[in-house]
Amino acid sequence: MSELPQLFEDVARWYAVTALALGIRTGLIDPLLAGGGSAAELAAVAGVDPDNAARWADAMVAAGYATVADGRFEPREETLGLLRGGVPIDVRAVVELLVPLGSLLPRVVTAIRDGDGIGSAEFQAALGMTSERVNAPTYRAFLLDEWIAGHPELAAALERGIDVAEVGPGSGTALRILASAFPASRFVGYDVDVATVREAVAAAAAEGLANLRFEAVDGGAMPRASFDLVCMFDAFHHVTDPSGVLDGMRAALRPGGSLLLAESAVSGDPTTDAADPTSPIIYGCDLLYCYQESKLPSRPGTGATWPARELGAMLADHGFSEAGRVASQAGYVVIRAVPLRT
Ligand SMILES: C[S@@+](CC[C@H](N)C(=O)[O-])C[C@H]1O[C@@H](n2cnc3c(N)ncnc32)[C@H](O)[C@@H]1O
Repeated sequence: MSELPQLFEDVARWYAVTALALGIRTGLIDPLLAGGGSAAELAAVAGVDPDNAARWADAMVAAGYATVADGRFEPREETLGLLRGGVPIDVRAVVELLVPLGSLLPRVVTAIRDGDGIGSAEFQAALGMTSERVNAPTYRAFLLDEWIAGHPELAAALERGIDVAEVGPGSGTALRILASAFPASRFVGYDVDVATVREAVAAAAAEGLANLRFEAVDGGAMPRASFDLVCMFDAFHHVTDPSGVLDGMRAALRPGGSLLLAESAVSGDPTTDAADPTSPIIYGCDLLYCYQESKLPSRPGTGATWPARELGAMLADHGFSEAGRVASQAGYVVIRAVPLRT
């Protein structure tokens, strides 16, 4: 067959990956990954309508995610194998996220028209913890061995025992890893979203981490002069008031304290970034999610490309100087910044 023009290919892959996302949400993917079977067998394991299971399984074959012979469907490891893990990102969550993000598309249309953004609580209600799961393997693979190890003075201080805050911790994966690795240090997560904080508290309790707590507090309103380290991982580009949050983080630091900020390594120039085949994911997710969460009526938002373009200048304007950076294999830049005056 002749090659499809790129636009048709894009549409075809949207349908393919959306069908896959529906399989993850309905549970049909699990029996397929576990070895497969007839459509009726897949339906029975997932507890779904058999006729729809048959349509879904056919769509998997048409998309190149499965094969079928004698009515028995099997996964194609070349394509579906990534869902089994082995890469430092939760691929299953990345794909599954398309379902709740799709449900928000009419809201995004409104937000693009009115410029009023979409609040954190609305995103939380739609996305639940699916978006949080995306980064969890990244933190497990890189947070200690690359991001903290790349700033040796921080690693030493954390070993000795310091007070650490994270702004926008979500469900708290990064803080759980840190609290467990550095039992002499004390950790607090401040997130604006109350439901997210509830999830974080439960997850920390499940791991029995006594040196970790969470509060529903805006990053701009943390206790003053209380922390030796304030972190923000993959969250700065979601805030509606970056200047206020940076002021809050500066005020929360004790003398000698520092910030540790992880943001996407995109350049912020779409022409340059287009050379990276993952850029449509970052730029598209930004338009649907990050940018809309950061946007308020009549105010510019931040969003995924903002840190690359603005964060350096804003740190300088707020009296910080960069004390080190790690270019993470995970596609992040991890910057340590210290206040010029304390
Ligand atoms: C994309 S999530 C990142 C969560 C987590 N750091 C991770 O990487 O999995 C961004 C988080 O920042 C929180 N957030 C947004 N603005 C905030 C603010 N001003 N203060 C504290 N948290 C904020 C949101 O509620 C959300 O949980």
